[in-house]
Amino acid sequence: FRQEAGVVALAAQQQDSQRLLDEFRQACDTPLAKLEAVVDAMVLEMEAGLAADEGCLLKMLPSFVENLPKGTEKGVYYALDLGGTNFRVLRAVFLGPGEGCTQESEVFAIPQELMLGTSEQLFDFIVSRLQDFVNRETQNKSPPEGHKRELGFTFSFPVKQTSVASGTLIHWSKGFKVSGTEGRDIVEVLREAIDRRNFQMEVAALVNDTVGTLAGGRYINSDVMMAVILGTGTNACYIERAEAVPKWQAPPPSSGVHVINTEWGNFSSPTLPTTFADDELDRESVNPGEHIFEKMMSGMYLGDLVRRVLLKLAQDASLFGDTVPEKLTKKGSLVTPDTSKMHGDETPDLETVGDTLKKKLDLDTSVEQRKVVYSVIDIIARRGARLAAAAIVAVLRKIGRDGKSGNGRSKTVIAMDGGLYERYPQFRNYLKEAFLELLGEAAVKNVDIELSKDGSGIGAALLAACHSKYGAQRWD
Ligand code: GLC
Repeated sequence: FRQEAGVVALAAQQQDSQRLLDEFRQACDTPLAKLEAVVDAMVLEMEAGLAADEGCLLKMLPSFVENLPKGTEKGVYYALDLGGTNFRVLRAVFLGPGEGCTQESEVFAIPQELMLGTSEQLFDFIVSRLQDFVNRETQNKSPPEGHKRELGFTFSFPVKQTSVASGTLIHWSKGFKVSGTEGRDIVEVLREAIDRRNFQMEVAALVNDTVGTLAGGRYINSDVMMAVILGTGTNACYIERAEAVPKWQAPPPSSGVHVINTEWGNFSSPTLPTTFADDELDRESVNPGEHIFEKMMSGMYLGDLVRRVLLKLAQDASLFGDTVPEKLTKKGSLVTPDTSKMHGDETPDLETVGDTLKKKLDLDTSVEQRKVVYSVIDIIARRGARLAAAAIVAVLRKIGRDGKSGNGRSKTVIAMDGGLYERYPQFRNYLKEAFLELLGEAAVKNVDIELSKDGSGIGAALLAACHSKYGAQRWD
């Protein structure tokens, strides 16, 4: 009899889990009409952000980039790429027209305490690594008298640029909360750290990672009109006509275009399919109320959204039995690399899902339970990928390249970077599927998404070359 009662209880738990799961799936649903509404809302926000300097969801920041790379650049330039849990230093040698470039780079992890420490601590750490790298690469040789090496600084946070090599940090994002930097010129902050170490390096360009990626893409292909990052955070920049930026007060750039950093991560709208998990995650984040769109889809958050939904299923529908697994209550116990790995599980019994749950959450699971976990991951990744597609289409629509508005025949290339696109096939496929739904068969043929792996570092070095004080230099 006890065994029978157990079976009945288990069946009831399964039913409860299924009911909650169905409700969650419904709340995350993104049929075409809903995606279209997101596109429309985002286009409106883009226009608002181009018109006003303050108070808009999309900041639409002009990047002050005067010259985009043409493929003819020549010389040695450096880049420093800071924007997620790692930073990269890079030395690029551009060999001139048609010759391409060579590069060496090194990646360093940023210790968690530095992400939450002081500005000096963070920048001293970064500059010390940069200096070691440069010294090693150049065998301690100094540049000739009167010259400094030049660097493109990719800084992937919202910055209000004041020139191509200066800009004020508006606020941190992606888990950074460093004191003493917000509201300051970030190049000045870097320069002070460079001076503290008596190091000779000129910052020739300050760029967002999207802008670096665009520049890196342009070096190879002049059809690149837009760059998208789908990684730890998410954002896009694109090339906009100068007349379409009413808030720009200075004389229009000689190129006739601006590169606009949309900062679309901060988008939010009643059209977005948000759930209790999004609300909770936002409330408990270091920047509540900000970057709502980013929190629904980027690598920093997808895994935690899954954890929160599983926790609710454990609490309200006893998904994992009578007790709520302790580890599931802890932020950070499940991260996007775990959930994307589980999403790739093709074994009939979902063995990878089982192994990962055991390893990360100390859980022994039945196949039925794993199926529920898999569904949660699938729902969240699919929603994120489809929203990302909608955001890309919004930008294409804004510049009349979505195939619906004039200009339908010219080729548009999107330079894409970030782990979600590069290393998460299910996410990438869902994105492409929604992209096709939104654009239609005919228009989608005119838009290529090209992976530009680590394009932002090389792009920043290129922008340093394009805005160099000295012209091409080849001393080391
Ligand atoms: C965050 C930053 C943004 C960056 C993006 C991708 O959204 O605010 O500047 O481009 O992450 O790294």
